[in-house]
This record gives sequence, C-alpha cells and structure tokens, in this order.
Amino acid sequence: MIQRLALRGKTYDIHIREGLLDDCGGLIREYLGAYCASEVVLITESNVRRRYAARMGDALARARIAFWPFVLRPGERSKSSASLARLYDAFAARRLRRDGLILAFGGGVVGDLAGFAAATWMRGVRFVQIPTTLLAQVDASIGGKTAVNTRAGKNLVGAFHQPSLVLSDPALLADLPAREFRCGMAEAVKYGAVRSKRLFERLRTAPDRAALCDIIGECCAIKAGIVERDVFDTGERMILNFGHSFGHAIETLGEFRRYKHGEAVAMGMVSAAETGERLGLTARGSADALRAVLAAQGLETDCPYTPAELLPQMETDKKNSGGTLRLVLLAAPGEAFVHTLDRAALRKAMGGI
Ligand SMILES: NC(=O)c1ccc[n+]([C@@H]2O[C@H](COP(=O)([O-])OP(=O)(O)OC[C@H]3O[C@@H](n4cnc5c(N)ncnc54)[C@H](O)[C@@H]3O)[C@@H](O)[C@H]2O)c1
Ligand SMILES: [Zn+2]
Repeated sequence: MIQRLALRGKTYDIHIREGLLDDCGGLIREYLGAYCASEVVLITESNVRRRYAARMGDALARARIAFWPFVLRPGERSKSSASLARLYDAFAARRLRRDGLILAFGGGVVGDLAGFAAATWMRGVRFVQIPTTLLAQVDASIGGKTAVNTRAGKNLVGAFHQPSLVLSDPALLADLPAREFRCGMAEAVKYGAVRSKRLFERLRTAPDRAALCDIIGECCAIKAGIVERDVFDTGERMILNFGHSFGHAIETLGEFRRYKHGEAVAMGMVSAAETGERLGLTARGSADALRAVLAAQGLETDCPYTPAELLPQMETDKKNSGGTLRLVLLAAPGEAFVHTLDRAALRKAMGGI
C-alpha cells in the first residue's frame, strides 16, 4: 500500500508492506533516480541492528547503494544533544555533503534524532524514514517533526523537516515488546477517535497480521491528510494531541518511569472524553466506548491520579497561554474539535475540585 503526502513544494510516498525491508534498496534507488547521493549514512540503534541490519545491508547492496552505519544505544536517552554532536562529528569525518542521504532505521528515537540531524546538517540534507516500531510507523515517521531532548525537557529543540520517503514494514513488528506494541496501538486508537469512526470501530478487536498492515495505512492516511492542511502545527494538527494534555500530566506525575507515552495517552483520552461528557460537549457513552476499544488493545484506561494532581501539570503544558487552556475534545468517537476554556471551568469539569 502506498500513501502519498502532498505538501506545498514537497510530495513524498509512504510505502507500507510486509517484507518491504528486503526491497528498501530498490525503493531508495528508485527515489534517487538520476540523483546520486554522494554519501549515504544509515543511522540505527543496537536492538534494530541485531535483528535487521544484515537484511538491510543486503537490500542496499543489491541496489548498489554504498553506506556507512552509525549505531546508537537504544532508548530515549540517545535522543540527546550529545548523540547529535557525535553524529555531526561523524558526518564531518565522512564529508557528508548537501547531496548526501540519511537513512533513519529505528523507532521514534532514531527517527527524531536522525531527522533533526538531517534538518540541520548543511542547513538540510535529505532523509528517509524506515520506522521499526508501531508508534513510529503510525505516527513519528510522518509529518516532518524532528527533535532532540535537552536538560530543560523533551522535544524542546526541533525542526520541521519532511522525509523524502517513508518505508514501513509491519513484519518488523513481530519481535516488538508487547508494551511497545500497545503504545503504538494507543496512537492508532487516537486516529480513529479524532477522525475515523470506521477505524475506531475496527479497533474494537485486536488486529491480526493482515489487518495490521491496513490499520497502519489508515493511520498514515489520516495523519497525512491533517499534516497536508496544517504542516507547521498552527491549527488543525492540534487535534492529534487528543488525550495528550492529560497524558503528559500522567507521564510527568509518574516521573516518566511508571507509564510509557502511549499508556499515558490511553488514560488521557478516556479522561478527556469524560471531561467532555461532563461539559455536555461530548456524546454520552463516548468515554465508555474508548475504554472498550483501548481494553481490547490491552491498554489500561483508569487514570490513577486525582484532578487535584493532574490540573497543575496541565496548566504548565507548553501549549497553553494566559489563563486559558486549549483541550482537544470529542463530539463523538471519530470527530474531534479544539475547545478553549479557563482553569475554573476545567477544574469543575474534571470533578469539581
Ligand atoms: N516526530 C514525531 O512526530 C513523533 C511522534 C510521536 C513520538 N515521537 C517520538 O518518538 C519517540 C518514541 O518512539 P518509539 O516508541 O518508537 O521508541 P524507541 O525508538 O525508543 O523504540 C522503543 C523500543 O523498541 C525497540 N525496538 C525498535 N524497533 C524494534 C523492533 N523492530 N523489534 C524489537 N524492538 C525494537 C527499541 O530498541 C526500543 O527499546 C519519542 O522520543 C517521541 O518523542 C515523535
Ligand atoms: Zn503521542
């Protein structure tokens, strides 16, 4: 399946197919066409390298693409300015020029870091996303947001830099830890909740392998459509933050150890739906429907924190300004909108504290 993301001045394809890993070289060669990258760097991390680097190497060799690898430690800590500095040093040593190509082969950590390096090296070189986690296949690899973490916080330094091509092979998910898989499913449920009743209903059961490929495609199509209309996240794209204001508060209260992002977003979506129902803006039963869908994907739905704990965290969210908060709410599953309210109103809607 191929989804196309058409932005003003730049169009790129998102390929999704089982077994695609072995054809990566050919697809990259096809994309490069007459343009010949002077140097190709494959950025990955050791968990992915151990499983898939040999096949990736063969695929690139078959397409006569010479590359040099750069291997990170797995995990969020690699999405740092220290890794970035090491990458820049390696680019310099290898004389990576503006016509070079960066391949980001890994989950969202590799994609965000490699993407930011691509955005900034020589003021921008091309890069290809080859996502290996469900979260990266449905979310992080598309839309052009790149970032590194700094001491001040997550994703505070970043750039918009669209990939030239996205190559997703759902077969690579076979070995993904179950918890990571569930986190990706939480984001898939989010796409259904904000934009597609059909996808939402489909997720009432856990997908088998064949359905998974299709579901990834649907998520990409929804994200691509929204990004096309709001590349720089100044309007409609905000609905992709459904469940995230609550989710970020839950992640923070758990000190980023207790819950993974997707787990926190799952609970956050239920909290947002409950809040919307109390405000009379969300159709009754929406929170229960979300609970059922998320439970079918093995996700917990009960937020362990009280409104009194959550609110202060939500008020410091970087997306808020002045005394008001902007929350993404559901009219009903499949239909989201942005609602602005003041703290007192939110406090009341969250349980009247
Ligand atoms: N740019 C965006 O739009 C965007 C959107 C959402 C999230 N993100 C970012 O993405 C990051 C999280 O991404 P993630 O959840 O993919 O995390 P990750 O990249 O850390 O991968 C999760 C774990 O899975 C392992 N792994 C990766 N591929 C595997 C495979 N095929 N088989 C077995 N194990 C594998 C990794 O080694 C790691 O331990 C965060 O930094 C977040 O900020 C970015
Ligand atoms: Zn998210």
